[in-house]
Formats: sequence, C-alpha cells, structure tokens
Amino acid sequence: MNEKPIGVFDSGIGGLTVVRAIHRRLPHENMVYFGDTARVPYGPKSPQVVREYAAQDAGFLTSHDVKLIVVACNTVSAVALDVVTKQARVPVVGVIHPGAAEARSATRSKRVGVIGTIATISSGAYTHALRQLDPSITVVPQACPLFVPLAEEGWTDHAVTHMVAKEYLFPLKLEKIDTLILGCTHYPVLRTAIQAALDGTVTLIDSGEAAAHDVERLLDAEGLRNQSSQRANLRFFVSDLPAKFTEVGERFLGEKMGRVHRVGGF
Ligand code: DGL
Repeated sequence: MNEKPIGVFDSGIGGLTVVRAIHRRLPHENMVYFGDTARVPYGPKSPQVVREYAAQDAGFLTSHDVKLIVVACNTVSAVALDVVTKQARVPVVGVIHPGAAEARSATRSKRVGVIGTIATISSGAYTHALRQLDPSITVVPQACPLFVPLAEEGWTDHAVTHMVAKEYLFPLKLEKIDTLILGCTHYPVLRTAIQAALDGTVTLIDSGEAAAHDVERLLDAEGLRNQSSQRANLRFFVSDLPAKFTEVGERFLGEKMGRVHRVGGF
C-alpha cells in the first residue's frame, strides 16, 4: 500500500509546481501526475463545467490505484473539491485550506491579499476559508487571468510581466496587505515580478507548498508514508501535446521529466 503513488492533477502544467513541492519534501513518494492540457484553462470556465472535468480527472488517477489524491489546481479546489472527495475512495488534499491556514499564521496586520483565476476569485473560496479561520482578517481578492499565459510562455522575469503585475497588484498595495496568497498553480513561477510589484514588502504564500506540508502530515497520520529509501518514480500523463508539456513543464518542475504519455478520451 505505501509504495502506491500519490495522484496529482491539474488543468495543465501548473500543478507541476505542486509536484515539485511534494517531491522536495517527500523524495521517496512515487507520484502519478495528470495534466488536462486538451482542455486547459479551467479558470475562465463555469463551475459546472469544471466540476465535470474534475470528476473525469480524478477518475483517471483512481484507475492508477493511487493512495491519495492532491488537487493541485486552485480552480478545481475552489469549485469542485466535494466532487473529487465524493468520488475518490482515498484521502483528498486540495490547495485552498492549506494556503489559507498558512496565510493566517503569516499575517501580522490581518490584511491578506488573494490572487487567482476568475473562477477561483469569483467562488470566494479563499475568502471563506480565511474568514472561517479568523473572522477579523480583511481579505483583498484580485483575479489575474493574464498571469497564466505569461507563465506558460516562460516570461517569468519579462518587462511585460512586470507591467501586468504592477497593474493587477496596485489595488492590493493601496489596501496595505502584508501577506499575499498565490492562489493559482502558475503564479509561483512569477514570484519575482509579483514581489517586485509589491516593493518586496509582502509575504508570499505558495498554496502548493502549503499543500505539500498537508500531504506529509496526512501520510504520517494515516500510516501511508512510503518506507522505501529509493528515489521516487514520477510518471506524467497529459490529454494533449506531450512534447510542449515536457518543454515548458521542466521549468515548472525544476528537473528533467522523462517520457510524458498522452491519454485519450478527454
Ligand atoms: N491550474 C489553474 C489554477 O490553479 C490555472 C490554469 C487554468 O486556468 O486552468 O487555478
């Protein structure tokens, strides 16, 4: 049981930042990753459609006999975590609650910004999670849809990205936030531009990192940690364009990826 892989899915490539965080923390845990590259982006789509996609994505991971499912996608975590939890017969970790909990611990001024896709921000999921943890926190949400294509393009420190970041984050600066949740899988790779737009004064919370911490706690609590001392086997599946996924994905993952398999039916 313990050698079974952890299943991780995302709408596309961004969830690799979550795989990287888990792999750093738990280098012996095998993982199966699914990126729905045929249907990305999920962020501008309706909750109903995202829920349908999420059920199919989780079904694919279940067919690989995973011991735990990590919903790396913030959009899915925001609008469809219940769908995945109901369907899976294994524990499920999303990214919203871990990110909110870490922001609550980090903030001193109790003024927290949240950035994400249109669907994530419209759902109010982060605001709700933060307010449940501490009703006195002021939450300043902001959708940043252009960040996803900029990250996909690899323009992590490009002048255009800096300009877009300044534009999106100006209202959050005015609101004097001291903590900002990166509520989208793609945003950690834009960290430099985001931090610069906020004059380097704000604590950035990477929800994926926070979720990796939760994965570790859960594996220990359930006695599911892989006891093997071998380096983990990471397998990658996508619903379209495996070559492009490999090229961009290695930037997100921070290491070589090996063969990426395409699966049909999505
Ligand atoms: N994975 C999505 C998220 O974290 C970003 C990309 C998309 O819109 O599908 O919200």
